Amino acid sequence: MRMVVLGLGYLGATHAACMAELGHEVLGIEVVPEKRDQLARGEVPFYEPGLPDLLKRHIDSGKLTISDSYAQAVEFADVFFIAVGTPQKKGDYSADLQYVDAAVDELVPLLRRDALILGKSTVPVGTAQRLADKADELAKDVAVEIAWNPEFLREGFAVQDTLRPDRLVLGIFAGSRAEATVREIYEPIISVGAPFIVTDPQTAELVKTSANAFLATKISFINAIAEVCEAAGADVKAVADAIGYDARIGRRFLNAGLGFGGGCLPKDIRAFMARAGELGAAEALSFLREVDNVNMRRRTRIVELTRQVCGGALLGKRIAVLGAAFKPESDDVRDSPALNVAGQIQLQGASVTVYDPKAMDNSRKVFPTLDYAGSAIDACESADAVLVLTEWDEFVSLDARRLGSVVRSLNIIDGRNCLDRDAWETQGWNYRT
Ligand code: UDX
Repeated sequence: MRMVVLGLGYLGATHAACMAELGHEVLGIEVVPEKRDQLARGEVPFYEPGLPDLLKRHIDSGKLTISDSYAQAVEFADVFFIAVGTPQKKGDYSADLQYVDAAVDELVPLLRRDALILGKSTVPVGTAQRLADKADELAKDVAVEIAWNPEFLREGFAVQDTLRPDRLVLGIFAGSRAEATVREIYEPIISVGAPFIVTDPQTAELVKTSANAFLATKISFINAIAEVCEAAGADVKAVADAIGYDARIGRRFLNAGLGFGGGCLPKDIRAFMARAGELGAAEALSFLREVDNVNMRRRTRIVELTRQVCGGALLGKRIAVLGAAFKPESDDVRDSPALNVAGQIQLQGASVTVYDPKAMDNSRKVFPTLDYAGSAIDACESADAVLVLTEWDEFVSLDARRLGSVVRSLNIIDGRNCLDRDAWETQGWNYRT
């Protein structure tokens, strides 16, 4: 089948390459010139394991073409995926839908044949209906259908999550014939057993926001328990392991530590609260405010721990921050807990040196005033405390003895509960977590 993917960020670029992998002919539209040119050369402008090979292969095979032209898009196909970003609005909690709206505004007036627009971006419930009304107004003698097909991919696992998803969800309006088209698109995935849930658009939109709200709640739950464990001298990792054996609870997403960040969970729970408020259901989601609060408290807690191990004040101290990406296997620093902590520590007068295996360029753009080192060992030179804030394998396997020979004081703060406490303590480190 021929199809167009509008917006080639983490979501769209992965989706476009994966649709080509399923055998479709795909035109990807990216309006930022540098990104468009890079992608057209078969280069991925961000770090995502497995994606560069896949993208390059399908650019070379001709199954995937990149352009910035909506005029070309409407010639190319009658099925359009919207995969543009929906960031948090500046100054309030709600989602900024300007890119989603712009895609529809630009696309629909150009359509000369009936078309199906499938939204993949995470949007507040009710958006599909609003866009459908808008498309009806903008369409010139053609039938334009809007449906929602939310994406659940995780960065770092984006290709595998797209090609082997836990489920596919499609939200269609009454009388729609989109189901057959969407089944055909995902046939290779459905035929190997992925559940395919067909529902109405508002339910599909809510599936996505509910899933992210649940995941965020699970993380904040264990982090709240971690606060109590710290106060009581208990071991939160053992609590998580033990409760995780209960199949109703499950061990995944119960890793206590610095909490969640990234381009999705933080802004999605906030947008969900904002939308519930607009719908008159604010009270129903008031617990999400606490989920957010617990999460933000983790960051100040690490700053506090750092101050403690540095003798009560950070002024003039040298702090090594290992990790800048919001999680391993990603170069994404959007709402990165690690960089937030680095920034807070710097504000309190310490000099902070950051190292991350993949996120250095992005970090420099967002936090140009921090110092950056070319390796973990260089970052730790003369440090009064070393903070591990993203659990990259490279940090999990750090040599405690070697690192001990370059620092000023043997203070290690494990912000992700990822290090082997015994290995560090045996080498004389003051290990805090
Ligand atoms: C998330 C959802 O998982 C995905 O389904 C959705 O489509 C987009 O949002 P992503 O943001 O890529 O994906 O990352 P995820 O793996 O969910 O991690 C989010 C954050 O939670 C990271 O900062 C991670 O470090 C943190 N986290 C995760 C924890 O602090 N503890 C855990 O146990 C798990």
